[in-house]
Amino acid sequence: DPDPLVIFTPSGKRGRFPVGTPVLTAARQLGVDLDSVCGGRGICSKCQVTPAYGDFPKHGVHVTDTALSPWNSVEERYDSTRGLPEGRRLSCQAQVQGDVVIDVPAESQVHRQVIRKRAETRALTMNPATRLHYVEVAEPDMHDPSGDFERLAAALEAQWGVTGLTVDLSMLAALQGVLRKGNWRVTAAVYRDHTGAAPRLLHLFPGLHEDGFYGLAIDLGSTTIAAHLTDLETGEVRAASGLMNPQIRFGEDLMSRVSYVMMNPGGDTEMTNAVRGALSDLAAELARDAGIDPALIVEATLVCNPVMHHLALGIDPTELGQAPFALTTSSALSLPASDLGFAAINPRARLYILPCIAGHVGADAAAVALSEAPEKSEDLVLIIDVGTNAEILLGNTSRVLACSSPTGPAFEGAQISSGQRAAPGAIEKVEIDPVTKEPRFRVIGMKRWSDDPGFAPRVVATGVTGICGSGIIEALAEMRMAGIMDASGLIGSAEQTGSARCIPDGRTHAYVLHDGRAEGGPLITVTQGDVRAIQLAKSALYAGARLLMDEMGVDRVDRVVLAGAFGAHISAKHAMVLGMIPDVPLERVTSAGNAAGTGARIALCDIAARAAIEGNVARITKIETAIAPAFQAHFVAANALPHASDPFPELAK
Ligand code: FES
Repeated sequence: DPDPLVIFTPSGKRGRFPVGTPVLTAARQLGVDLDSVCGGRGICSKCQVTPAYGDFPKHGVHVTDTALSPWNSVEERYDSTRGLPEGRRLSCQAQVQGDVVIDVPAESQVHRQVIRKRAETRALTMNPATRLHYVEVAEPDMHDPSGDFERLAAALEAQWGVTGLTVDLSMLAALQGVLRKGNWRVTAAVYRDHTGAAPRLLHLFPGLHEDGFYGLAIDLGSTTIAAHLTDLETGEVRAASGLMNPQIRFGEDLMSRVSYVMMNPGGDTEMTNAVRGALSDLAAELARDAGIDPALIVEATLVCNPVMHHLALGIDPTELGQAPFALTTSSALSLPASDLGFAAINPRARLYILPCIAGHVGADAAAVALSEAPEKSEDLVLIIDVGTNAEILLGNTSRVLACSSPTGPAFEGAQISSGQRAAPGAIEKVEIDPVTKEPRFRVIGMKRWSDDPGFAPRVVATGVTGICGSGIIEALAEMRMAGIMDASGLIGSAEQTGSARCIPDGRTHAYVLHDGRAEGGPLITVTQGDVRAIQLAKSALYAGARLLMDEMGVDRVDRVVLAGAFGAHISAKHAMVLGMIPDVPLERVTSAGNAAGTGARIALCDIAARAAIEGNVARITKIETAIAPAFQAHFVAANALPHASDPFPELAK
């Protein structure tokens, strides 16, 4: 009789194995993705499978209930102490006795796919650089002069195929204590990335380590720093938090921070220390929120723009403030996290920084490219990450282009007379009746529209503090549609518009959005200066996109993806009325949420994604907006609302 047939699902891999072969061994030989931390010792329970019994005409087998060996003492013990879910077996203990179909549940797969949030478009595969391996190490022997590290390395090689293990001094110093505490049974956290560099011993736990291990995905922006504490086994986000970038006190935008360095000797060190302190604080806060030991954080990934990149690394960013905008290095970096002064986390934790695309287009844009994968898009996609600088990508399977455009902070509510950050009290949505010219609006933190009877006048009066970036976009677009403002952006007088809300403001006019003065609240107006600030920002954004379209030889794109926190809140219709984005059907404008942060998380969980983005970045064509002659012409033409010459047929619908 031939050997029994073993079929694994969902992979469909199959092969014949002698009676008595452990299921885990069969899986290993067939290359089935099945986890194991303890190496088949029956203690980690990562190797659980679900055998299926009965007739499987599709596979041409009948599985009897004796197809696997009955529970042995190891499974009995595991079940009585920890409990084995119904129908599950430990694949390292169950042996093949007859033809069998074995299902590998998602949680037993090493390269498991993680379900991602609604806004995210790519599945996330778990393939982290750091892996846990449980090993039994030979005890020292008077007749064998080898050191404890050498015996540990030999055990990892023999039991897990880890060759050429390296170790740093801090780990060596702790080694003997941990080996003895674990009675020569230890769990090694071994780091092996995509570069082919020798594996590193990051940490050693006595006995079997079951409390997980973690990584930080950090999106270091000019204004805010956001991070996700991620479980490196499951991909689950255990805590997420953000804080203001403390460098703001040195300058709101990037160029003012570069100027600060140029004008203040030692200014770069001040800013480096400020941002590093914030990164450490954020890591400690996340560990506290998740209730984990910060020493279990063994990896981090970082994405940021080029100026933040240099300042975090402790490199003078002066060269980035002037043409030809030379980066110190554009390559991805893999460093000890301690080089950036991470205090709370594991002292040997590794930090991966994504590659920069160009002197103006940073690792944050690379992370957006990783998350949104324009190189895999059949249709031509324009991806815009709106912040103080707009990062713009245009591409499809044939080619990807990138640029950055200096929009300034107006889209974030800065430089706007009643502007504020998106926080409770900020007007975020606006509608203006085209007949009466009367506005209604919604405020962050309040669920009703301002004209709702349930929205008490006193609350409206004093609870409204200003207008945020998405609010000002909507206000301007509504003013344009209601005829309060013409195509050049000029706000009309009360006589011209027929609305008493248009009041004189110096030599120009302003539109009163909200007057809370009678109740002690603010007067919130949209001024001619506000219109001008948004016009400058949107012209820079549109001109950048247009420059990429020129280079691609197209005058239309198939779809638009808005990334970034602002992109998540902006209304596509209002953005198009102002001509912030090129004309496309409205349903083809989508929001990607924090795509840069998502890219950081993908790179944290999957070393193959690191290799992929390093390759893709090298293939992206960089367009320098500052020196492109056409930029100025595009900029001027984009000043009109929506545009002086480009058609916007979708708006007519
Ligand atoms: Fe660890 Fe089976 S491999 S319990």
